[in-house]
Amino acid sequence: ASTLGASAAEKGRYFGAAVSAGKLGDGAYTTILDREFNSVTPENEMKWSYTEPQQGSFSYGSADRIVNHARSQGKSVRGHTLLWHAQQPGWAQNMSGTALRNAMNNHVTQVATYYRGKIHSWDVVNEAFADGSGGGRRDSNLQRTGNDWIEVAFRLARAADPAAKLCYNDYNTDGVNAKSTGIYTMVRDFKARGVPIDCVGFQSHLTNSVPGDYQANLQRFADLGVDVQITELDIAGSNQASVYGTVTRACLAVTRCTGITVWGIRDTDSWRTGQNPLLFDGNGNKKAAYEAVLTALNAG
Ligand code: G3I
Repeated sequence: ASTLGASAAEKGRYFGAAVSAGKLGDGAYTTILDREFNSVTPENEMKWSYTEPQQGSFSYGSADRIVNHARSQGKSVRGHTLLWHAQQPGWAQNMSGTALRNAMNNHVTQVATYYRGKIHSWDVVNEAFADGSGGGRRDSNLQRTGNDWIEVAFRLARAADPAAKLCYNDYNTDGVNAKSTGIYTMVRDFKARGVPIDCVGFQSHLTNSVPGDYQANLQRFADLGVDVQITELDIAGSNQASVYGTVTRACLAVTRCTGITVWGIRDTDSWRTGQNPLLFDGNGNKKAAYEAVLTALNAG
């Protein structure tokens, strides 16, 4: 097929992009979004500071603009994210202990209930593991409420929206390393104990190369009985097109790799300012990286 979304669909997968509500009025942006992508992730608008700016007062306006745009075009939506140590509202940043845990749990239930039936996959928990060689949890206000906060969040999300795939999402997990192995151990434990987890997201913010064991790492998670998704792909550096092709082929080679999301549309939309890590240039022209992805999606 001639677009990313249609080509991925022929392989039983989706191809998505992170979207900002504030750009939906930009015709060049929306033209590419509507043509190329069949999945959408709100880049910021579903985060805690946006959806519950004051405790108990929920605000879905910007997220709804994205969800409604996507659904009216038949695109699926990835929810991002219910609990994360960053982009919390000030009131939550200042809480701890039981009060914070209760607020976290209420947030998960309220947001997942509001969007019930509209979300393909939720990043229930984002970036809860530490970088480096320890393989353990990241210290955060969320973690300090007790180690069970992640499984509690997954159980609440399942109860609120039984049809959504529930994902754990993180970065620097692209190869077999201490961090990805820590997550692997958690997922294996969750599956053994019946904690509802359906997928693991690999953000894949890359520069110039991808670990040689990228596909093997996706596969070892898939072998635990969860889907895997590439959730925030962007690739800086001169080897960009080649690495985009490699990542796309790795996903296609793993049966349970169900989709790829790039973290923005044009280079000028990227959070990685000046690194030009996306598939379209600032004028909306397809880059070599785009052609590499499209070719990979249509191979075989
Ligand atoms: O909306 C306000 C605007 O009102 C204000 O004038 C402006 C001034 O700084 O800030 C705007 O908020 C910014 C927001 O993006 C929306 O543009 C924040 O400052 C800025 O920090 C925020 O950055 C986002 C970042 O997450 C926050 O950590 C990026 O757009 C977003 O791409 C990035 O996405 C994360 C994923 O959620 C998780 N994985 C890593 C990824 C990249 O950091």
